[in-house]
Amino acid sequence: MDNELFGGKRLKLGIWGLGRGSSFIDSARALGIDVVAGCDISPAMRTNFKRICPEANITESEDAFLAMDMDAVLIATYFPDHARCTLKALAAGKHVMCEVTSFLTPAEGVEVVEAVEKSGLVYNLAENYPFTKANMYLAKLYKEGFFGELEYAEYEYVHGGTHPCLNTQDTLPGNRLHHWRGWISYHYYCTHSLGPVMVITGLRPEKVVAFPTDVLYEGTVHGQGRKIDGVMPNLGAMCPSLIYMSNGGIVRNLMGGTSADSHNQRIFGTRAAAETYPELKLKVGAQGSFHGITVNPDWPDLGAVAERAGHGGGDFWELYYFAREILTGEKAPWDIYAASDVTLAGIQALRSAVAEGQPMEIPDFRKKEVRDRYRNDNWIQKHVDPDRIFPDDQDLAITSHFCEYYSAAQPFIMLMRSTLDAMKVFDVTRPAERINTINLVKDLRAKLPQAKAAFDKLRSIYEAYPTSPGGVAIKEKLILCEAERLNDMETFDTFLKDFLLKK
Ligand SMILES: NC(=O)c1ccc[n+]([C@@H]2O[C@H](COP(=O)([O-])OP(=O)(O)OC[C@H]3O[C@@H](n4cnc5c(N)ncnc54)[C@H](O)[C@@H]3O)[C@@H](O)[C@H]2O)c1
Repeated sequence: MDNELFGGKRLKLGIWGLGRGSSFIDSARALGIDVVAGCDISPAMRTNFKRICPEANITESEDAFLAMDMDAVLIATYFPDHARCTLKALAAGKHVMCEVTSFLTPAEGVEVVEAVEKSGLVYNLAENYPFTKANMYLAKLYKEGFFGELEYAEYEYVHGGTHPCLNTQDTLPGNRLHHWRGWISYHYYCTHSLGPVMVITGLRPEKVVAFPTDVLYEGTVHGQGRKIDGVMPNLGAMCPSLIYMSNGGIVRNLMGGTSADSHNQRIFGTRAAAETYPELKLKVGAQGSFHGITVNPDWPDLGAVAERAGHGGGDFWELYYFAREILTGEKAPWDIYAASDVTLAGIQALRSAVAEGQPMEIPDFRKKEVRDRYRNDNWIQKHVDPDRIFPDDQDLAITSHFCEYYSAAQPFIMLMRSTLDAMKVFDVTRPAERINTINLVKDLRAKLPQAKAAFDKLRSIYEAYPTSPGGVAIKEKLILCEAERLNDMETFDTFLKDFLLKK
């Protein structure tokens, strides 16, 4: 399209990391941004990208990629690699938009901040959750004084926990966990929950406190755990923290991987409050018996362009702000300093948890004297080795099926657990939910042989390596879903059939 958005100016963009990175192509097209290059070490990712973006030059070599003729790079490589990629892209003279988060250690953060300052190039963090319709509307209201001062907010990014830890890519054998999701703490991944509060209120996080949890989601690979060798859990654990904001208000920032998804968002100001789930509701009247107003906001502007971007939303807006800053000079929300604030809030929360709840400052990297204190701070989470979840002398003929068998068993684990639990509460549920439960039971009955085959395959890896981190995770999952009941399939089927007959 002719780029009327930016006074006819166009931007040449390269995408580095073509998994998540590929999801920006539609937004780029809607914005008149030319995606001219792509880079990925995975052949499958390159092939897929070629299909959806045939006009781009594609390479596996990051050096060849950065030498290409383009203005800006979107970095969507592995989470712990962002600082290195950013430094390299800036050194190659490219503006940078980087996926969350900006860096993994404070020392890396200092290096990135100073490299951005020295380069004079644009750096934006690609944090998209502030740019939902609801959060953009709340930001507008907050700016107008509708909420008064932020007193307290609760924002969440909670997922059902196991699957992201598995290796789901073609760049690793199946006896390992995912490159970074297999070990990283959810505290690090704090931007989708804290980020919206920062953008809505314009406030800076100043201090953070967090406790470690010793109750972990069953069936994820955690190794020996915190109490034995200080290993902090991966994405299969809850990570709440309390953050003191620059106006004195508090944010409960909750990330986690557990038995259910949850994305609640609530904000309490001195004059009004709001919550966004299940729909955006404002609570006005400034007292307990509030007047509730359900609102259905639209995009602030550029709605038609955002809709054209397909799944648009947050990705569209962050790319728009990035291009706008490069092409017109108008500042985007997530510069390197705001990016450092939100990234450091996660690092320091994890540190607080490791220190059993000791409060930590969230350093302000705008100030050189503060940066100097963190210049050599290479602190990082002690974690399981995602490449070594079975013994070194493992039989690969057995363990290389770990991710495959685990993924294949997942739907049956969920079907077993949800059916058995729904049967327990059947009598007190609503009519429509009773029908759902009956359908679940019927579905499980029809799938019993498949479920047993999936569990047996998974159990074969556990039986070969019962005390390994991978074996322990399998055992937990099989116990969780009562898989042993399928060892006597006839009895179990009769149990299900009897339930249906009585209902
Ligand atoms: N904002 C969001 O909603 C959102 C959603 C998903 C992922 N992410 C972020 O995007 C990033 C990527 O996540 P993902 O889901 O694609 O998973 P991923 O980390 O599994 O995939 C990253 C891709 O980068 C490639 N890659 C890694 N290092 C490379 C290198 N040096 N050179 C070339 N290619 C390289 C990999 O082969 C892979 O295809 C992460 O930082 C993640 O936090 C953000």
